[in-house]
Amino acid sequence: MNIGILASGRGSNFGAIVAHERLGVLDDVDVSVLVYNYSDAPVAKIAETQGVPSRFIDHRNRARQEFEREIIETLDSYNVELVCLAGWDRIIGSDFFKKYRWRAVNIHPALLPAFGEKGLNAGFVHEAALEYGVKVTGCTVYFIDVSVEKGPIILQKPVEIRQKETSLFSVNREQAVGMLSDRVLVQEHRLYSKAIQLYADKLLHVSEFSVEVGASPRRVVSVHSDSVWEKEWALRQRKFIEAQIESWKSSTNVSEEDLL
Ligand code: GRF
Repeated sequence: MNIGILASGRGSNFGAIVAHERLGVLDDVDVSVLVYNYSDAPVAKIAETQGVPSRFIDHRNRARQEFEREIIETLDSYNVELVCLAGWDRIIGSDFFKKYRWRAVNIHPALLPAFGEKGLNAGFVHEAALEYGVKVTGCTVYFIDVSVEKGPIILQKPVEIRQKETSLFSVNREQAVGMLSDRVLVQEHRLYSKAIQLYADKLLHVSEFSVEVGASPRRVVSVHSDSVWEKEWALRQRKFIEAQIESWKSSTNVSEEDLL
């Protein structure tokens, strides 16, 4: 299955998905193309180093339809079946959604629907969670639809907020946000590829039901993995986790305990 990744910035989720592919954790999944929308986005360098084809598509000074048409043409030329947004900072229009209905996913660094308001991105999400004083946050992989952050949820991973982060937040907001965001990111990097594999294995089904007459229907994802699938996935993903522990230990302040 060919996947296309849309990313705007740092690209750590992109890198993690590619690592899952290269380590053979992802089965029958090929990261076929990266689309990025800032010429200097660090994610483009990662694609270059990893030998993933990439295409720069500028969103500035043009109509959204035209920008999205170029993205769709690019994804089509690589026969992309699943589109993965990973730190993509543009809102997706209805044409794109129609074409990739239940074939486009995104990751959000909180437990949706909490802290999912439009414009609440990465760092701001963690700041809002610490400011609110929630005890648990985490990350969510979901199918995108026109509602931006309200599409049907595929997987979520909770991360408990530490007393250390809460206390630090009152004296050094930036540092506290950084600590929490790193700990959530560790989980994002694991969760996203699992959702991709579930999709590739055709284990995700979106169903609709009406809550009340006249209201728009709710859409819910059923995950049809069994314990054998879960065990095999956990076994395969160990390879990625070992590599992740090594690289995080040397490059960040995340403790080993948080990585296990
Ligand atoms: C991640 O926290 C992701 O959840 C959010 O944007 C951030 C992107 O980070 N949508 P990266 O570019 O993947 O490092």
